[in-house]
Amino acid sequence: MADNSNELMDKLVALCKRRGFIFQSSEIYGGINGFWDYGPLGVELKRNIKDHWWNTVVRQRDDMVGVDCSIIMNPRVWEASGHVTNFNDPLVDCKGCKARYRADKVFTVEVKDGENMLLLAGVDADNADQAKAAATEKANSKTRRRLEEKGDSLAWNMFRADQAQGQTSRCPNCGQELTDARKFNMMFKTFVGAMEDSSAVAYLRPETAQGIFANYKNVLDTSRIKVPFGIAQVGKSFRNEINPRNYTFRSREFEQMEIEFFCHPKEADKWYEYWRDARYKWYVDLGLKSSKLHLRNHEKEELAHYARACADVEYEFPFGTSELEGIANRTDFDLTQHQKFSGRDMTYFDDETKEKFIPYVIEPSGGCDRATLAFLCEAYTEDQAPDEKGVMQTRVVMKFHPALAPIKVAVFPLVKKEGMPEIAQKIHQACKQANLVSFYDEKGAVGRRYRRQDEAGTPFCVTVDGQTLADQSVTVRERDSLKQERIPADKVVQYVQERIR
Ligand code: GAP
Repeated sequence: MADNSNELMDKLVALCKRRGFIFQSSEIYGGINGFWDYGPLGVELKRNIKDHWWNTVVRQRDDMVGVDCSIIMNPRVWEASGHVTNFNDPLVDCKGCKARYRADKVFTVEVKDGENMLLLAGVDADNADQAKAAATEKANSKTRRRLEEKGDSLAWNMFRADQAQGQTSRCPNCGQELTDARKFNMMFKTFVGAMEDSSAVAYLRPETAQGIFANYKNVLDTSRIKVPFGIAQVGKSFRNEINPRNYTFRSREFEQMEIEFFCHPKEADKWYEYWRDARYKWYVDLGLKSSKLHLRNHEKEELAHYARACADVEYEFPFGTSELEGIANRTDFDLTQHQKFSGRDMTYFDDETKEKFIPYVIEPSGGCDRATLAFLCEAYTEDQAPDEKGVMQTRVVMKFHPALAPIKVAVFPLVKKEGMPEIAQKIHQACKQANLVSFYDEKGAVGRRYRRQDEAGTPFCVTVDGQTLADQSVTVRERDSLKQERIPADKVVQYVQERIR
């Protein structure tokens, strides 16, 4: 990770806290690792993302319906899905400081220059490249210079703690030995009812998908929908991640936006390609630059035993390139498992062809918090803009797609007199009545009010001034181009509505 990437992340995290996008959960008690709260601006941004997803994949289609399932389900669901036995991460403990790590994220790095050992260190990193960069960083400055000068000619020996073969893995914190890796189930356990015994054990769902599978028959029986069709759900999921990290990227409580699309097995390849490309395009349409967005097809060896194909939509975050969404052809695995464990018939009967079959499932599964973080990273911009006196200054501006921007319009009276506040209030209220999130601000110089809205990512600022009193026109200033134009005061709602689609 380059230094300036860290710096960018630090600036973004500070802005998110300062402006009320994201707060640490229970911060007044010192926080709790892996849990985050969205503030007034963050909740609007996240809601816009979820609404946009729901409109695109459910409301604008004839072949999709939605559900909203409970978070705690019968524990048999998680036996059928394989989560009770297989939803494990490899865990290692430090024998010295007792710190815990995900074994597949801990690299032990040896760097040798000829016979001289330059560095032996444990590094907590997402992949080998990051581990190499962090190890270089860990070395003292003299060693670092030699590392940088020699580059790849140095002998690097690096192994992951879960793949160590007789080698000793080192703790990234204190450098002491780590234990061998062991399995750790990531589902949060709880008890249902008054008894806290094994018969009362239940789990917080680690994915929203299983609620959809469990309701597949209910949906078929109660709606007129026919294969091919999909069921969509947005909701919270919980995973007891060993090392939550990278801000909200890997949390213990997060929201998913998942689709299970049921189709004839012979059409599964076609639908898989359709959904993979459609989901990639959704992110680009909402403003993620295609140069930073990658569609990575999984190699055969990476696929789960039941999956026929899988691709990840990945984004270049400042901390590295990581997954936003996975699109998988899960075959008939899930429905077959639920048929076996529940004893209910999961076959589909096609009236026209008289064929009976268990549908294949294409699953586009995205993380809402990861999408939010990607849109925040993409939006963060520092550019030059003139201040009140026309002097160029650096401004921080969140260049959200207008459809995602938390506040759509800010309304200012130029001064707090001559009836300007009353007119501005009227425009502000008209925007609110049209369900446009509007912010009224009469405090301080107009330039400073613009800057505050730039940081919030508000695409339009409307100013009521002296000319408004004469001809009922107002100034609209556009966030990115800084261009100003005059429009009739009674056309503000329409103007904004047309530009935020
Ligand atoms: N039903 C399939 C499934 O859950 P997954 O790849 O484990 O697949 C899907 O999760 C998406 O959920 C990921 O692409 C990611 O966006 C999001 N996600 C998973 N774990 C997460 C975590 N710990 N924190 C935030 N988002 C997470």
